Amino acid sequence: MSDLRIRGLVKRYGNVVALGGVDLDVPAGSRTAVVGASGSGKSTLLRLVAGFEAPDEGTIAFGDELLAKGPRIIPAHKRGIGIVSQDGALFPHLDIADNIGFGLPKELSGSRDQRIGELLDAVELSRSLASRRPHQLSGGQQQRVALARALACRPRLMLLDEPFSALDASLRQNVREVVAHALEAAGIASILVTHDQAEALSFADQVAVIRHGEFAQVGPPDVLYLRPLTRETAVFLGKAILLPARAGEGFVDCALGRIPADTEGKTGAVDVMLRPEQVLLHAAQPSPVGRDGRSIPATVKTVRFEGADCAIVVEIADQALQLALKLPSFGAPKPGDLVHLLVGGEAHVF
Ligand SMILES: Nc1ncnc2c1ncn2[C@@H]1O[C@H](COP(=O)(O)OP(=O)(O)O)[C@@H](O)[C@H]1O
Ligand SMILES: [Mg+2]
Repeated sequence: MSDLRIRGLVKRYGNVVALGGVDLDVPAGSRTAVVGASGSGKSTLLRLVAGFEAPDEGTIAFGDELLAKGPRIIPAHKRGIGIVSQDGALFPHLDIADNIGFGLPKELSGSRDQRIGELLDAVELSRSLASRRPHQLSGGQQQRVALARALACRPRLMLLDEPFSALDASLRQNVREVVAHALEAAGIASILVTHDQAEALSFADQVAVIRHGEFAQVGPPDVLYLRPLTRETAVFLGKAILLPARAGEGFVDCALGRIPADTEGKTGAVDVMLRPEQVLLHAAQPSPVGRDGRSIPATVKTVRFEGADCAIVVEIADQALQLALKLPSFGAPKPGDLVHLLVGGEAHVF
């Protein structure tokens, strides 16, 4: 099993630079997610890796095998790469068995039905669906068939172009887990592209944030979420509390008190980020004690019920600072309540 290596990949459409020089390594058997806004170049990247289009510059290699060097490319059908798109693109006039069988090598005719059955098992679909047409399946089932079809030719890499985005939220998570499990069981590396941050962070071992055709940051999901390189990446990946602070050795002082931080030698005025879930709320009485011997008194301004959680805005009186927090709805405070804030974990220094 070898790794996919992408170096200096550039793709232009006229004046539009769809990819402006992208480097990426996808180790064998691993999962990578590329997350970015619409038009940031995600599908272009997948089309180049699949071999549907040629790059203007850069290389794509699998182990020692060069798949693309600038505009000179190995054609898609010789790459051993599977792709699942947003709409699944099943053949409407073929039943499910023939849709999946379409990807099977011809010489397999004898054991074809058995292999189709195994592929349906792999994506956790009942074998009884084999004789149905695509329109007789739900969206989630269709996407699993599309994955089974792509798995049929035993690709060494699977490309997933927003394959869950047409599904509703509860189904999306379920299908995502099935897909991740099927790929893991088959030992196939994958690249998922999506505009959904939570999806990228939960699916992958490695996440790349793409912006205007360039990678803003690549790394493990928790590192990107907790240690983003820029404020832009911080707020793109989730809710963030951004505060001015003064850095000391191993801590920062800010409106939320003294918070441990990896200051990397910075001193004086800095900007810091906390994720809202790091701010814990306590009833005002008895007053809890924070890490620096004090906690921060605040007043609850608004509470918006959202089901399991509620969105709360608290105001730190003497700082004229409002913070937006999420808390479990159960036992949540009410507007006007006095509370104390305690901060957990470290602040991230930019
Ligand atoms: N075939 C094409 N011709 C011209 N422009 C294109 C073509 N494909 C993509 N683009 C442009 O390249 C940029 C990246 O597109 P795309 O990779 O589809 O983004 P994403 O998948 O992230 O939404 C966009 O500005 C898009 O308009
Ligand atoms: Mg796209």
